Amino acid sequence: MSPTETPTRTPKRVTVSPLRYPGGKGLLYSRLRSIIRDNRLTSRTYVEPYAGGAGAALGLLVSGQVEEIAINDLDSAVYAFWRAVVDEPDEFSQLVRTVDLTVEEWEKQREVYDTAPRDNLLQLGFATFYLNRTNRSGVLNGGPIGGKDQTGNYKIDARFNRDTLLERIRLIGLYASRITVTNHDGRDVIKRYADDANAFIYADPPYFEKAGSLYMNAFDGAGHQSLADGLNLAKSAEWVLTYDNVPEVHSLYAERRRVLFSLNYSAHRVMKALEVMVFSDSLRIPADIRVAGDELLKAGVEV
Ligand SMILES: C[S@@+](CC[C@H](N)C(=O)[O-])C[C@H]1O[C@@H](n2cnc3c(N)ncnc32)[C@H](O)[C@@H]1O
Repeated sequence: MSPTETPTRTPKRVTVSPLRYPGGKGLLYSRLRSIIRDNRLTSRTYVEPYAGGAGAALGLLVSGQVEEIAINDLDSAVYAFWRAVVDEPDEFSQLVRTVDLTVEEWEKQREVYDTAPRDNLLQLGFATFYLNRTNRSGVLNGGPIGGKDQTGNYKIDARFNRDTLLERIRLIGLYASRITVTNHDGRDVIKRYADDANAFIYADPPYFEKAGSLYMNAFDGAGHQSLADGLNLAKSAEWVLTYDNVPEVHSLYAERRRVLFSLNYSAHRVMKALEVMVFSDSLRIPADIRVAGDELLKAGVEV
């Protein structure tokens, strides 16, 4: 089976990530693709300092839009997952093929997730994946789909289609030599690549208002400020940043070009679903992204 694509000539989304991610940016795939094409960035290293499910990064890699990706996450469990899939895809696949999908197994994996040595990448990475696929909404600290008594409409295996997941892991294994996985603070990753003319950074940090308890949030006001300092001072790398549309973002990046966007545009939900994309100075903003942003402004959205 090929990666799941929408049946159009220019897919909005190419789903390769085995992780479900609250707020996942797989849907940003088509916008990033047009930025990469318009700016001829294909041969650069595409860097996600806040990778999470890395939905956009993997979609861009397997569809040939970029040649190499660097994915980073400070959460040691998310990092363990990526290292395990990239470095040990066969062992990981064997676990996916054979693991029980029961509440009893869920309890075991939960225990591993909480207590496994952080350097046992296969064990911790698999437990992270198991919980992500069997928990409600993929939230790692949540409970199993269907509840512990399995009386809900959907059961614990509802999001664990072994064949689909095995195919995604196989694909990642094929591309392993082009994927670098690290476990640093995102700001250090930005520092590392900021002066690298061969890098294109897409930063999707924890948001100001939406972060909540969905995933690890190692950010406070100073964190947002120091991220802005790093990006605003980047000399050579091109970069794009996405955030929630709040006044703080507009003041941190007041000197940069900013465009509004909405991942699931619908007239009555638009006020809620709004986000902002910030661009490094020499990046050309594709017309479709600019026009869509202007339309949101015309629709009366405040910035
Ligand atoms: C908004 S999510 C990224 C979502 C991702 N773009 C996707 O499509 O799945 C933010 C991610 O940043 C990670 N994170 C939080 N604080 C971090 C930090 N200081 N440095 C690096 N990663 C961090 C979280 O673990 C989480 O996975």
